[in-house]
Amino acid sequence: MHSTLAIEPSVFYFGTPVALLTTVKPGDETANITPISSAWALDDTYVLGLSDASQAMCNLRENGELVINLPDARLWESIERIAETTGAAEVPSHKREKYRHEPDKWTLGGFTSRGSESVLPPRIAECPVQMEALVTNMTPLDEEEGATIVHAKVLRTHVHQALALPGTSHVDVDAWKPMYYTFRHYFSQGERLGVNFRAEQ
Ligand SMILES: Cc1cc2nc3c(=O)[nH]c(=O)nc-3n(C[C@H](O)[C@H](O)[C@H](O)COP(=O)(O)O)c2cc1C
Repeated sequence: MHSTLAIEPSVFYFGTPVALLTTVKPGDETANITPISSAWALDDTYVLGLSDASQAMCNLRENGELVINLPDARLWESIERIAETTGAAEVPSHKREKYRHEPDKWTLGGFTSRGSESVLPPRIAECPVQMEALVTNMTPLDEEEGATIVHAKVLRTHVHQALALPGTSHVDVDAWKPMYYTFRHYFSQGERLGVNFRAEQ
């Protein structure tokens, strides 16, 4: 028997992968890095949930090019170093208590910039997966929430060599360890439980 309790969580972050978006503001030399976890893929399109108050959203409205960088477990402390910052020169009032402006999250987090091939924003060299992408759609989540659902079509995918299965476009699922965000805690991937009937490896 599974007895249940009705609860009222303040957030519903039961666990989603962490992604670091790189975006550029036209005219700015340094690209911005935005940690998110509202990200999932449908075919070759990523669906991203972004606060309208983020610099990422502001940049994407001006230039719809981005890189979706996926970190692994080793990078959680670098991500946490930039977590309290925003690329927005003027920190939105509701964030002022907990956030500060940081124009160069690369140095703060110890990230290295690597030029992209099909989009303006650079990739994050330390991230094992880097997807160059283009915004194809933006839908307001809810005017009151101040968030937007962004669709981003993946144009090009780069993976660290250690993840690539030679001679294929497959990612080595034994080598790739995504990082998950669960109620604002960082987790690494656990043990493999089984395999789906459609798996290609
Ligand atoms: C692990 C992690 C996951 C986050 N997930 C999201 C998210 O899914 N959407 C979002 O808008 N903000 C998310 N945030 C908060 C933003 O990173 C934060 O508002 C940041 O200041 C935005 O940076 P920017 O203003 O420079 O774009 C997350 C933060 C962390 C550390």
